[in-house]
Amino acid sequence: MKISIITARSKNGVIGSNNSLPWKMPSDLRFFKQTTIGHYILVGRKTYETFTVPLPDRPAFVLTTKSDYEPKYKQDKTISILEEGIQKAKEQNENELFIIGGGEIYKQALDKNLITHMYITEIDAIVEGDTFFPDFEESEWKIIRKDDFTAGEKNDYDYSFVFYEKK
Ligand SMILES: NC(=O)c1ccc[n+]([C@@H]2O[C@H](COP(=O)([O-])OP(=O)(O)OC[C@H]3O[C@@H](n4cnc5c(N)ncnc54)[C@H](OP(=O)(O)O)[C@@H]3O)[C@@H](O)[C@H]2O)c1
Repeated sequence: MKISIITARSKNGVIGSNNSLPWKMPSDLRFFKQTTIGHYILVGRKTYETFTVPLPDRPAFVLTTKSDYEPKYKQDKTISILEEGIQKAKEQNENELFIIGGGEIYKQALDKNLITHMYITEIDAIVEGDTFFPDFEESEWKIIRKDDFTAGEKNDYDYSFVFYEKK
C-alpha cells in the first residue's frame, strides 16, 4: 500500500494559520479532491475539526489522544496511534492511504519513515502562519513530476504540483 502525504506549503514552509488555510487556492482544493477521492484519509484531530462537511467518498481515520472522542461524521473513525490507521486501511484493501495533515501528523509520519509518496503543492509566496510542513531530507526523495501554473484570476499565488517518491 502506498502511504502518501498531500499538502500545500508556502516558500517559507507555512501550511496553516489560526487553524485554517492562509490562502485562497481553489485549484489546489480541486487537485486535493481529484487525488484523494475514493481513498481513506488519515487526519489529525485539529485539522479534522476544520471540516464543515464530511469529505465525500473519503472516510477519515482521525488521530487523537482523547479516548472518548467521537468523530462528527459517521463515515469516520477515531484512532489513537498512526500505525492503527495504516493497519485499518490495509484491512480494507486500500491501495493508497492519504495523510492529509496537519503539521503534527506530517512530522510524525515522516519521522517514523512511513511515507512512500508526497503530493506537495508549492505555493510561490512567503506567507505568514503558525503551522509548518516539516523539513525533510530532499536527497531521499525523487521528483517524479512537476507541473507549474500561474495564479490566474481565482488563485492567490502562482503554484506547482510536485509529486515525490521515496528513493
Ligand atoms: N496546507 C495544507 O495542506 C494543510 C493540510 C492540513 C492541515 N493544515 C493546517 O494545519 C493546521 C493544523 O495542524 P496542527 O499541527 O496544528 O494539528 P493536526 O496535526 O491537525 O492535529 C494535531 C492533533 O492530532 C492529535 N495527535 C497528534 N499526534 C498524535 C499522536 N501521536 N497520537 C494521538 N493523537 C495525536 C492530537 O489531538 P488531541 O489534541 O485530540 O489529542 C493533536 O492535538 C491548521 O492550520 C490547518 O489548516 C494545512
